[in-house]
Amino acid sequence: MKQTIGFIILLLGLASCSGGSVSEEEQFVGDLLAKMTLEEKIGQLNQRTGQWEMTGPAPKNDNSQQLLDDLKNGRVGSMLNVVGADATRKAQKLVVENSRLGIPLIFGYDVIHGQKTMFPIPLGEAASWNPDLAKLSSQIAAKEAAAMGLHWTFAPMLDVGRDARWGRVMEGAGEDAFLGSVFAKARVEGFQGDDLSSELTIAACAKHFAGYAFSESGRDYNVVEIGGESLHNLVLPPFKAATDADVATFMNAFNTIDGMPATASSYLQRTVLKGQWGFDGFVVSDWNSIGEMIEHGAAANLKEAAERAILAGSDMDMEAHAYVGHLKELIEEGAVDIKYIDDAVRRILTIKYRLGLFEDPYRYCDENKEKDLIYTAEHREAARKIARESMVLLKNNNGILPIDKEVKSIAVIGPLADDKDSPLGNWRAQAIPNSAVSLIEGVREAAGSDVKINFAKGCDLSIGKRTFFDFMTINEDDRSGFKEAIRAAKKSDVVLLAIGEDAFQSGEGRSQTDIGLAGLQMELFDEIYKVNKNIVVVLMTGRPVAIPEIAEKATAILETWHAGSEAGHAMADVLFGKYNPSGKLPMTFPRNVGQIPIYYNYKNTGRPGAEGAGQTLWSCFTDSPNSPLYAFGHGLSYTSFTYSDLKISENVISADGNVIVSVTVKNSGDVAGEEVVQLYIQDEVATYARPVIELKGFDKIALAPNESKEVQFSLTNAELGYFHPNGTYMVEPGTFKVMIGGSPSSTLKSSFEIK
Ligand code: NOJ
Repeated sequence: MKQTIGFIILLLGLASCSGGSVSEEEQFVGDLLAKMTLEEKIGQLNQRTGQWEMTGPAPKNDNSQQLLDDLKNGRVGSMLNVVGADATRKAQKLVVENSRLGIPLIFGYDVIHGQKTMFPIPLGEAASWNPDLAKLSSQIAAKEAAAMGLHWTFAPMLDVGRDARWGRVMEGAGEDAFLGSVFAKARVEGFQGDDLSSELTIAACAKHFAGYAFSESGRDYNVVEIGGESLHNLVLPPFKAATDADVATFMNAFNTIDGMPATASSYLQRTVLKGQWGFDGFVVSDWNSIGEMIEHGAAANLKEAAERAILAGSDMDMEAHAYVGHLKELIEEGAVDIKYIDDAVRRILTIKYRLGLFEDPYRYCDENKEKDLIYTAEHREAARKIARESMVLLKNNNGILPIDKEVKSIAVIGPLADDKDSPLGNWRAQAIPNSAVSLIEGVREAAGSDVKINFAKGCDLSIGKRTFFDFMTINEDDRSGFKEAIRAAKKSDVVLLAIGEDAFQSGEGRSQTDIGLAGLQMELFDEIYKVNKNIVVVLMTGRPVAIPEIAEKATAILETWHAGSEAGHAMADVLFGKYNPSGKLPMTFPRNVGQIPIYYNYKNTGRPGAEGAGQTLWSCFTDSPNSPLYAFGHGLSYTSFTYSDLKISENVISADGNVIVSVTVKNSGDVAGEEVVQLYIQDEVATYARPVIELKGFDKIALAPNESKEVQFSLTNAELGYFHPNGTYMVEPGTFKVMIGGSPSSTLKSSFEIK
C-alpha cells in the first residue's frame, strides 16, 4: 500500500510537470502502462464475480482459492457482485496490498432501478415521459451504490424493445428510439453527474451493444436478424445518445446479429463506437459472452473466442476467463498485436483514474456513509413521486377514478394486493425483501377511518420459492380464497383488483409465449365481475400484457408496473386523486401474443388498410384487428386537454434548415394536470420507406384548470433525416407531415416541404 501511494505521488508529480498537450490523466495512465508486465496488463482485462452472489451461470472451473490467488497477484482488474463497504474494502485490500503495482479494482454491480431504495422498473419510469425523474432516480441509486463501495453500475439498459415476450423489456425505456435516447442521456447524467471522482457518483454502462432486444421470438439470448436500416435507426440511437453524454463504459451483448456475435463485432465496437462516435471508455463483455461464442459456433475454443473478442474491441472479459487464460499465448504466437491489449488496458485505467481510485482506492468504502446515505426518508419520498408519475391510466369509465369521497366501502382484492415484494421489481440490487409499501397498506392509510376496507386476497399467484434463478411455479389450482374475495366484493362500493405479474415473471431469462395473466387471475376477475361491476384493475407488470377481456369489462385500469419501495403510497396517491395521473405508455400493449411484434411506428405495407373489412389479400389478420389494445403514447388523465393553433414557421426549407412547430394546449377540465405533448412526423416519400409516424419531440407541461400554454419544438437536420442501411445519414427532400397531440392518434396535422 505504502509503495502504491509513493508510486502514485511520483506519477502525479511527473504528470503535473509535463507540459504540451498530454493531460495529467494521459500521462498517468501512459506511465503506469509502461511499467506493467504483459501478465499485469491481461489481469486488468479480467473481471471476476464475487463468490457470494451470482448473476449468471458459474464457470465450471471456479475455485475460490484460485480467485484469492489471482486477486493477490494482479490477475484481476475488476469484480462484480461484491457489495458493501466492508466486502469491497477487503477485496480491494487484497489487491492493493499484495499485487506488485497495487492497481485498484473497479467494482461493478447491476444497479438497474435503485440500490436499496427501489424505484419503478425502467420501463415504468419511462412511462413518466419525464427524463428529470430518471435522472433523479439514477442520482439516488448512484449515491446509495457508491456508499456501498461500488464504482460502476451495469446500467442503463438501452435496448429498444418491440417484443413483450422478452422478459427484459422491463429494464429498458420501451419501443421508441427517440424516447429511449432522451432517457439514455438522463440516466447516464444521473449516475455519473459532472464528476466521476465524486463519492456520490458511479460510472454508467450502456448495454447491451447491440440488438439484444430483437432476439427472435422474444426468447432470451436468441439470435437477432435485423438488417442495417433497423440497426441504425432503431437500435443504435440511444447508444449514441449515451456516448454523447460521456458514458464511461459499454457492455456488449450475448446475441449474434445476422450471424455475427455482438462480442466479436469489430464493426460495432471498433468502427462505430470507438471510431465514428469517438468513445474513449471501455467495453466489458456480458457474462461469459466471450465463452458463449463457442456455443454460437463462432469459435472452436476459448482461445479462438479470446482472439476474436479482443480484436473486435471487447476490452474486459466478464467471467469467461478467456483473456486471462489465453491472451498471453496469443500475443506470443503473434496472433494478437500488443497494441490491442495496450489500448484496452489504457481505457480501463483511464476510467479508474477518472473515478479517483488511484488517489484513494478505498474512497468508496466508508461504513458510516453506508449507514447514513442509504434508504433515507428523502430517497423514499423521491421514489414515491417518481412511482406515481410513472403510472398510466389505461381506462377510466364513468369517472370511477379518482375514488369518490362519498364511497363508503372499498374491497381490495387480488394476489398482488398485499404483496410487499413484487413491487420491488426484478433487478432489485440490495433491496430488503418484502420492504415495499403494498397496495393494501397504501389504501388503508389514504382512505381514512370512515371508509370500510374489505381485504381478501382471492388467490396466490405462485407457489413456493421465487428467486432470481428459478422459474416460479404458478398456482393453477388453489381457489380456496375465492369465496372470501367474492364476499368482500359483494359488500363494497368499489373493488380494487390487484393483478398482473410477479416481479420474477419478467427480467433476464424470463421470456414467455403467453403474456396474458398467469394462473387463476382471470378466473378471479370473472367471479368478482359477477357480483360487482365497479372494478378498478390495479395492474402490476414488468411488461405489456395482453388483457383484452379485462380491457372490455373492467371499469378502470391503472398500470402501475413494479413501482418500487413506495409503490402502495404512490398507487393510493393516484387512486384517491392526490396525484392526477400523467403517464403515457412507452410500449404498445397488444391484444394477443400473435400480434407481436407490434409497435406504433410501423411502415406501411403495399397493401395497407382493409382492417376489419373482412377482406383477404390485404395486410391484416383474419382473426384479430391489426390495431393494439393500448398504443404507445396512450394514457388518460383526470382532466382533459384541448389542442389548437398548430403552426409551422416555414412552408419550405432546405435540407439543412429547420422549422419551429408550435401548438396551444389548454386544460379544459376541472382539475390541475400534466400533459405529455407529443410531436410526430412522417417523411412521406423516401428512398427507404419511412414509418407512418415517428416521435421527434415531447414536452411534459403542467396546467391549472382553464390554463393554456404554447409549446414549441424545433425540427432540425437531426430529427428530419434517417440512416440508410449502410449507416449514412440522409435528409431527403419531399413533404413532411407534422402531427401533435396527447397520443399518436389524437393529433392536429400540418406539413412542410424540404426542397
Ligand atoms: C448478464 C446480463 O445480461 C447483464 O445485463 C448483467 O449486467 C450481467 N449479467 C451481470 O450481472
